[in-house]
Amino acid sequence: MDTNKAKSVGKCPVAHGGMTTAGTSVTNWWPNALNLDILHQHDRKTNPMGPDFNYRDELKKLDVAALKADLRALMTDSQDWWPADWGSYVGTMARMTWHAAGTYRITDGRGGTATGNQRFAPLNSWPDNANTDKPRRLLWPIKKKYGNRISWADLIALAGTMAYEEAGLKTYGFAFGREDIWHPEKDIYWGEETEWLAPSDSRYGDVADAKSLDNPLAAVQMGLIYVNPEGVNGKSDPLKTAAMMRETFARMAMNDEETVALTAGGHTIGKAHGNGSAANLSPAPESGDIADQGLGWLNRVGRGVGRDTVVSGLEGAWTTHPTTWDNGFFTMLFDHEWELRKSPAGASQWEPVAIKDADKPADVEDPARRYNPMMTDADMALKVDPAYRAISLRFRDDFAYFEKVFARAWFKLTHRDLGPRSRYLGPDAPSEDLIWQDPVPKGRTDYDVAALKSRIAAAGLTPAEMIATAWDSARTFRGSDRRGGANGARIRLAPQKDWPGNEPDRLRRVLAVLEPIAASAGASVADVIVLAGNLGLEQAARAAGLDLSVPFAPGRGDASDAMTDAASFAVLEPVHDGFRNWLKQDYAVSPEELLLDRAQLMGLTAAEMTVLIGGMRVLGTNHGGATHGQFTDRPGALTNDFFVNLTDMANAWVPVAGGGYEIRDRKTGAVKWTATRVDLVFGSNSVLRSYAEVYAQDDNRQKFARDFVAAWVKVMNADRFDLHA
Ligand code: HEM
Repeated sequence: MDTNKAKSVGKCPVAHGGMTTAGTSVTNWWPNALNLDILHQHDRKTNPMGPDFNYRDELKKLDVAALKADLRALMTDSQDWWPADWGSYVGTMARMTWHAAGTYRITDGRGGTATGNQRFAPLNSWPDNANTDKPRRLLWPIKKKYGNRISWADLIALAGTMAYEEAGLKTYGFAFGREDIWHPEKDIYWGEETEWLAPSDSRYGDVADAKSLDNPLAAVQMGLIYVNPEGVNGKSDPLKTAAMMRETFARMAMNDEETVALTAGGHTIGKAHGNGSAANLSPAPESGDIADQGLGWLNRVGRGVGRDTVVSGLEGAWTTHPTTWDNGFFTMLFDHEWELRKSPAGASQWEPVAIKDADKPADVEDPARRYNPMMTDADMALKVDPAYRAISLRFRDDFAYFEKVFARAWFKLTHRDLGPRSRYLGPDAPSEDLIWQDPVPKGRTDYDVAALKSRIAAAGLTPAEMIATAWDSARTFRGSDRRGGANGARIRLAPQKDWPGNEPDRLRRVLAVLEPIAASAGASVADVIVLAGNLGLEQAARAAGLDLSVPFAPGRGDASDAMTDAASFAVLEPVHDGFRNWLKQDYAVSPEELLLDRAQLMGLTAAEMTVLIGGMRVLGTNHGGATHGQFTDRPGALTNDFFVNLTDMANAWVPVAGGGYEIRDRKTGAVKWTATRVDLVFGSNSVLRSYAEVYAQDDNRQKFARDFVAAWVKVMNADRFDLHA
């Protein structure tokens, strides 16, 4: 079907006024303009459920036992339109879930299985996600039946978990609570290649050095979940593949033991499909024919189902009993020598040099036929890489241990981006605290907030000190995987207390004042840090002649070192903070893009980002006491001066050596202030300027202060899942 306007215009009597396809955008003319759309995703208008819908409330009505029984029945209810291998869907369900969860990467916390994004492009059409449309479509009757009480995101995560349970694994548990999005995420950087499966070289500094993979990426090629099953750039070499696996799985928060458990456990069930030619397949769902109704990779030449299915191009199962959870992966791997061969689709795969017929897996349709098992390059890595091999041998010899490690790693894989345990819902949610959940004990709420505030006020800290400390404690929050934030007061623990971005000397000084106050009031340090910030803000508002009270919600707890996996916090270190006008060093990405990225992770809108920048500047909270962007004669007062002076044509904006800017009086040439790109972008970008104008208006001084406080409170409470449950 031709939907291309350029081709049809002139021929068609109907006027094409709207820019109605994704490839046409009125702003494509300026590809380097800031993409503020990433701040305005998942808007209420895209969500068909309406403002009163509360998924967490709906979940409480879910009959979990009935849902699980239906899922169990579905696993062996083979459908004519997509027959189940050996009469069981456990393999395809588990792979769907793994591919949803496996996109998670620690650096920015994006990806993962918490949103149901596998329903949308690009993920629904990634080459590596071939045929994940089928298990989702098989799940549709169940989704339809349980409706609003189960999100797609939860269902996708649960289906794979149930698949392993159905195969015989004792799972570690399952928590519900993932809310669906209704359009593809616009913020996730998947790589800059414009070609699917482009060689790895484009995303590595040096492809021989696995660690040189471009950040924050965690897959070796565009369109893959992790490594290439046929080897680095399709060239078989299990040792090289092992190095790639180690890095990519580490970027998914998995260590060597978890990596071996997941890969081997993953391939304990199911099979690879490559008994045919990929050339016969229809396009991926997103570019599929309208009559294909969202299904892709359909074979119109042959049968293309059952034993003739083509997915990765590799062909065969890993174990003798591929629908059963057992130790068959390791016995198969270690009991045989393997040699490189070609699948019927021409893919490189490892097959046993010799194998007894009885040890071969059966044909998916005819139990009387048997074929060779196969191993991918990644599976072989578990045998040849010395560290992986030692772990594999331990797993082979101690099945109970392997099962325990796999079950826990699978749970982590599928729950890593759901956030802390307090967000878990459902009867099967484990009650154990796990270190990767960044546990925070419940804080007290029964202390006298007003009295505490008076004690902080009498302690002699400046508003700027209090505001900057509260900001630093809260700004690590990222909505992508719900890590970071003020709760827990981890800013007083390693590694955060020593991060340059937190100005360790100032931080130590402020904490030395606040910690004893917290102890004597029975409040958490986390609460006191935020309360002090609020107090500083109220004082700054008074200095501007405004009487404002900043809402405060007590109840944060204090985490300890023992509750903190210090190493895992490295990825949360702010190496730039436009709100405090700071860059740890110069980066290839512009400071304003870094600001935008951070604002998106913090869940801010463009207007909130704007008002926060303007307020923070005049409050004198720049990192290291720098005065860039402090466009005011009254620093420390919560005025809209930043915006007034930014938009004032009496000023000229002049670049100076070293990359900064001077704001000069247009008539006299006298330098009034200095600025960075992060300041000036609010005058140069047309959309940000429109917000800056709102806050510069004479009639919006109060609105500016009110909006600043609202955005501030949003940041302070971003990780208070108890408040917005
Ligand atoms: C080192 C990373 C991995 C690589 C390179 C890899 C590669 C592959 C390939 C090539 C297939 C065949 C797809 C097809 O043709 O149908 C496959 C299937 C599968 N993988 Fe993996 N995989 C990896 C890790 C994992 C992990 C961590 C899990 C789960 C924890 C997993 C679970 C599965 C399952 C269940 C199937 C069977 C699908 C079916 O029966 O339809 N894999 N994998």
